[in-house]
Amino acid sequence: MIEFDYRNVSAEILGEENGLNIEEEFNNYNDRIARIINELNSKKDKPGQWLQWMNLGYSEETVWLVKEYAAMINGRFDNILVLGIGGSALGGYAVCEALLKPYWNLLTPEQRNNLPRIFFLDNIDPDQINSLLDILDLKKTLVNVITKSGSTAETMSQFMIIKNRLQEEIGDNYTRNIVATTDQNSGILRQISNEEGYKTFVIPDDVGGRFSVFSAVGLLPFALVGINIEELMQGIKDMDLALKNTDIRHNIAAQNALIHYLMDSQKGKNMTVMMPYSSRLKYISDWFVQLWAESLGKEYNRNGEKVNIGPTPIKALGATDQHSQIQLYNEGPNNKIINFIRVKEFDTTLDIPKIFEYTGIGYLGGKTINSLLNAEADATRVALADYQRPNVTITLEKINPYNIGQLLYMLEVQTAIAGELYNINTFNQPGVEQAKNYTYALMGRAGYEESAQDLQAKMH
Ligand code: PA5
Repeated sequence: MIEFDYRNVSAEILGEENGLNIEEEFNNYNDRIARIINELNSKKDKPGQWLQWMNLGYSEETVWLVKEYAAMINGRFDNILVLGIGGSALGGYAVCEALLKPYWNLLTPEQRNNLPRIFFLDNIDPDQINSLLDILDLKKTLVNVITKSGSTAETMSQFMIIKNRLQEEIGDNYTRNIVATTDQNSGILRQISNEEGYKTFVIPDDVGGRFSVFSAVGLLPFALVGINIEELMQGIKDMDLALKNTDIRHNIAAQNALIHYLMDSQKGKNMTVMMPYSSRLKYISDWFVQLWAESLGKEYNRNGEKVNIGPTPIKALGATDQHSQIQLYNEGPNNKIINFIRVKEFDTTLDIPKIFEYTGIGYLGGKTINSLLNAEADATRVALADYQRPNVTITLEKINPYNIGQLLYMLEVQTAIAGELYNINTFNQPGVEQAKNYTYALMGRAGYEESAQDLQAKMH
């Protein structure tokens, strides 16, 4: 199991003003947390609760289907191009970055075991898209277009461009280069897929975008690049079992949810920094930022009261951001809680040669880069505690599919529990609609004429 260390949030270390009497709080909240956990688990199969993500780790059928497809097309494509945005891209990208060898796309085919390169296009920057299209041989590229709604402007505009290019280059057989991941019945992409005959995978009902990484949204790209998805699923299942424990003293997701909730509501720490000490985990922070922000940032609570709450997530990378953000975290406003992710054993070891012994950097010689990185993580968390800055540490034994499954699932459950503590709807995102409507209006979508007028008045 992954380890969780919360000693640096305690009042003993940080003082009463900034720290929590954590054992006391665990006692105070134990019953409420138990009710939340029981309720999440008992409601998860009910339609309309948006809790189907809690079942994804058990979906053997999806594993079987994506593996069968990956085996069927094995060797046909040099590249996978994933089109998607937000929850339809961030999880897949984060896991691929974590579990594939660094610089995967620059490795030779032999170094990649003849598995394809993988590109995630999660923005609509014309220069980036044009440049990528210059690099990719579309004939040898499988395009996985992912959108739950089937109509997201960013994803569908990319798709329209690439579909046309494919058709121009390949002719009628272009559909073989497309696989769509979308809702089972509804949405424009589903309609197009049926009409044009694309291979499709389903995003199950009641799974929101930011909780969809363990559906075909993530599993298909993972299978296509050879990630061991059985191990990943085992990690999720084992974590799910552990997190069914209703005793907060034995439930790390509940512990971290409560710590963040109390730090925000009682101690004014309304910013959550996610700081892995591993470049491979860098994009786990991007995924977490969306999960935490969209789930917890809400105008109204469940009682309909206007609350405008939600901790602001911030991404950071150790050791890099020690030289960029840590000055602020140590000495600036004491309004943050920092989450470190630490890796015990890296896949490789890198020795620092014993040279320049006569200089001030001589002490580095004979050590490893591995020990330097972890020493920096430990030094930073202790220094933060010295400045009375709360921080917690999640430790992974190794970066592997099992542990990544555990980590992401734990953070999902933590987010769901935090949402219950804040008494908000974790699974909606009404705050993104207004800008979407204005975009439709600006782009001339039928039915948005009124928004267009409203917008024109506000822009001038
Ligand atoms: O978490 C979410 O629901 C969003 O980030 C969506 O994933 C994002 O807006 C993309 O939506 P869709 O998958 O419908 O294209």
